[in-house]
Amino acid sequence: MKKNNVVLIGFMGTGKSTVGKQLALKLGWEFIDTDQEIEHREKMSIPEIFSKNGENYFRKVETEIIQKVMSNEKQVIATGGGSVLRLENRSKMLSHGTVIQLEADTENIIKRVEGEKQRPLLQGNLREKVYEMKDQRKYVYDFADFVIDTNVMKVDSIAEQIYNLMILHKK
Ligand code: S3P
Repeated sequence: MKKNNVVLIGFMGTGKSTVGKQLALKLGWEFIDTDQEIEHREKMSIPEIFSKNGENYFRKVETEIIQKVMSNEKQVIATGGGSVLRLENRSKMLSHGTVIQLEADTENIIKRVEGEKQRPLLQGNLREKVYEMKDQRKYVYDFADFVIDTNVMKVDSIAEQIYNLMILHKK
C-alpha cells in the first residue's frame, strides 16, 4: 500500500512550495521542502552548493534526502524540479506517496521566476534556458498519478483540488 504522503513534482516555478504549504495546512500534515532540507544539511544555499561542489554532488545529496524523507508519513513534500531525473527517486516517490505534477506554460514559468537569483540552472539567458530545459524535460514528469494545471495560480483553489483528490482516494 502507498504511504500517506503527497509528493509535488514539476518544473521550476510551477508553485510546488507555495501550494505545498497551503495543502499541508489543510491536511494537517507536515510540509517538507527538499531544497530546504538539502540547504540545511549542507549548511549552504543551493547556488553555493552548485558553484562549490557542482550539479552531480547536488543530485547525490538530493537523492539521499528524498530517499530519507519518503520513509516518513503524513507529509506534503515539495521536490526540486530536477529530482525526478533519477529513476530511483521516481520509484521511491510512487511507492511511498501520491505523486502530483504541477504544470504551467513556459511563458508563465518565465514570468514567475524572472529576477530570482536562487536557481543556478536559470542564470544567464532566462528565456532561452527555460525553453530549452522545458523541452529537455518534456516527459520526465509524466509518471505522476495526477496532473494539476497551475496556469491560473490561485494557491487556495489548487490546494483545494489536491485536497479533494486525496479525500476521494482516501489519502
Ligand atoms: C532544480 C530546481 C530547483 C532546485 C535546483 C535545481 C532543477 O528547485 O532543486 O535549483 O533542476 O529543476 P525548484 O523546482 O523548487 O525551483
